[in-house]
Amino acid sequence: MIVLRDVNKIYGKGEGAVHALKDANLVIEDGKFTAILGKSGSGKSTLMNIIGALDSPTSGTIESNGVILNELDKNELAKYRNKTTGFVFQSFYLEPTFTVLENVAMPLTIAGMNKKERELKATKIIEELGLSEKINKKASELSGGQKQRVSIARALVHDPDIVLADEPTGNLDSQNGAEVMALLKKIVEKGKSVILVTHNMEDAKNADNIIEIKDGVATAKYMNGKYDNLFEHKTYIVEENNKKEIGESVENKVEEVK
Ligand SMILES: Nc1ncnc2c1ncn2[C@@H]1O[C@H](COP(=O)(O)OP(=O)(O)OP(=O)(O)O)[C@@H](O)[C@H]1O
Ligand SMILES: [Mg+2]
Repeated sequence: MIVLRDVNKIYGKGEGAVHALKDANLVIEDGKFTAILGKSGSGKSTLMNIIGALDSPTSGTIESNGVILNELDKNELAKYRNKTTGFVFQSFYLEPTFTVLENVAMPLTIAGMNKKERELKATKIIEELGLSEKINKKASELSGGQKQRVSIARALVHDPDIVLADEPTGNLDSQNGAEVMALLKKIVEKGKSVILVTHNMEDAKNADNIIEIKDGVATAKYMNGKYDNLFEHKTYIVEENNKKEIGESVENKVEEVK
C-alpha cells in the first residue's frame, strides 16, 4: 500500500511557480487497478511520478509498505524503484538502435544481473507478450503497438509490484489501445498493482479505483472513510491545539479542518 500525506508539488519559484499538486492525501491499494483521471495540465503525470518515486514532492510524505520514501537517499531510492516499480510511457522511450531483447533486458542490466540470466528472463516475458518473432529486431523497426508491448515487457521484466503507465494508449490506434488496456488488466489479475494515467473516462472504467484530479486537487471516492485512521495525525494536531478553546465541539472543528 502506498500512502501520500499532505503531498504538494510546486514547480519553479516566485511568480512563475506552478502548484501542480495540492495537499494530496491518498491511498493506493495493493493489487488494484487504479486510474488517475483528469484533463491536460491537471497534474496527472506529476502525481504518478511522485507515487512511483520518479520525482519527489515539494512537501508531504510518501509511504510505501511502511517505508517513508522521503527518508531514502538517492541510491536507496534507485534500488527501491528498480525492485518495486515498472514504468510505461505514451512515447515508449525505447532505445531505437537496441533490439527488442536488449530493450527489455535493460532494467536487469541496471540491476547488475549477468547476461545469461537476463536474456533468459527477458526472452520469457517477450514470449508472454507475443513478441517472439521480433526479439532480434531493432526497436525502430516496430509498429507503435509493438513498441508499446515491448515497453510493457520492459516494465515487467524485473517482476515489480507496481506498474505505472502514463497515457500508454495515447499514441496508439483504438485496436492497439484496447490490446494495451487488456494487458494492463492481465497484470492486475496476476496480483500486481497498476496505476494508469488517462484523460479518457472510457479507459478509467477498466479500473477498480479512480482518482480524479482537477487543477492539482486529487479526490478518491473509493477511499470513502475507509482509511481515516491513516491520516489521524491531522486530527491529532487540531485536537491538541484547540481542545481548550472549543471543548465539546472538537469533533465539528476537526471535520471543518479536514
Ligand atoms: N517540469 C516542470 N516544470 C514546470 N512546470 C511543470 C513541469 N511539469 C509539469 N508542470 C506544470 O504542472 C502542471 C501539471 O502538469 P502535469 O504534467 O502533471 O499534467 P498532466 O495532467 O499530466 O497533463 P497532460 O495530460 O497534458 O500530460 C501543468 O500546469 C504543467 O505545466
Ligand atoms: Mg501528463
